[in-house]
This record gives sequence, structure tokens and C-alpha cells, in this order.
Amino acid sequence: MQLPSVLVLNGPNLNLLGTREPAIYGAETLDDVARMCHDAAARLHLEVDFRQSNAEHQLIDWLHEARTRVDGIVINPAAYTHTSVAIADALSAIAKPVIEVHISNVHKREAFRHHSFVSPIAEAIIVGCGTQGYVLALERMQTLLTTKFAKQVTQ
Ligand code: DQA
Repeated sequence: MQLPSVLVLNGPNLNLLGTREPAIYGAETLDDVARMCHDAAARLHLEVDFRQSNAEHQLIDWLHEARTRVDGIVINPAAYTHTSVAIADALSAIAKPVIEVHISNVHKREAFRHHSFVSPIAEAIIVGCGTQGYVLALERMQTLLTTKFAKQVTQ
């Protein structure tokens, strides 16, 4: 039986996790986060494809590919959250659940981080839970993809 597949997409500067403003983003590297996601996926019986790019066009191209290839998307669009209509449009074009993740609590930070172009499209938003937010997002995604109850609630 094929496992439900989830694209975990990371936007610009998240390749610097672990060294970038650790007081805000923590000490784990992006490789640590990828490992956490793969461990969670094994436990949750999901298949995870974990990717990061600093380039808006690359993120959009991966989202286009994902339209037919994956069952759900977990995305930390990083700074593009607050600026990119193009990424929001690409997500809108995918008829699959989207969960938005932010490591930091963006609402406790500068005002320009309070607006997200992605949130109106997202089934769920996880902010301020550190890198654990990715695991929480995968747990919720598993519920959305596998239970009738969750599908009814979010319709
Ligand atoms: C972030 C928050 C964004 O405002 C910021 O630009 C990031 C990371 C987070 O995970 O907390 O790069 O998405």
C-alpha cells in the first residue's frame, strides 16, 4: 500500500538554521529538522520529501510538481510568507491540504511579520513551537489525510 506523501518545503535563509539568530530560531540545523521530520514520518506512516530553497521560482516550481505528486504540503515560506503573492497563488492552485509552520512566534516580533499571504490558504498554522512545529504539522497532516472526521471538520 502506498503511504500518503507530504512535501515539507522550506524558504529562504532556513539553510542557516542552527547558526542564524539561535536565540530566535534555536540550535537545531536544517539537517536536524529533516531528520526529525523523517523520524516522525516513519512513526506516522507518511512519506516525507523535505526540501529547502532560497529562490522563489524554485519553491514555485516544486509546488507545481507537487500538484499531482503529493497528498499534502507543510510549508515554512520564511520571509516569503510576508511578501510573496506568487507562492500564495501556487499554493492556491493545489487542491491538497496546506499547513503553514513558523519556528518563531511571528506575532511577538516586528509588525511586518504579522501578515501572511499563506495563512488564508492554510488548513492550519503552527507558530512559535520551535522546530517541534514541523513534527506537530506532520501529526496534524496525518490526521487530515487519514481520518474522515478531520476531513469533515475542515470542509
Ligand atoms: C520564520 C519567520 C519569518 O518571519 C522569517 O522571515 C523566517 C523564519 C520562522 O520560521 O519563524 O525566515 O518563517
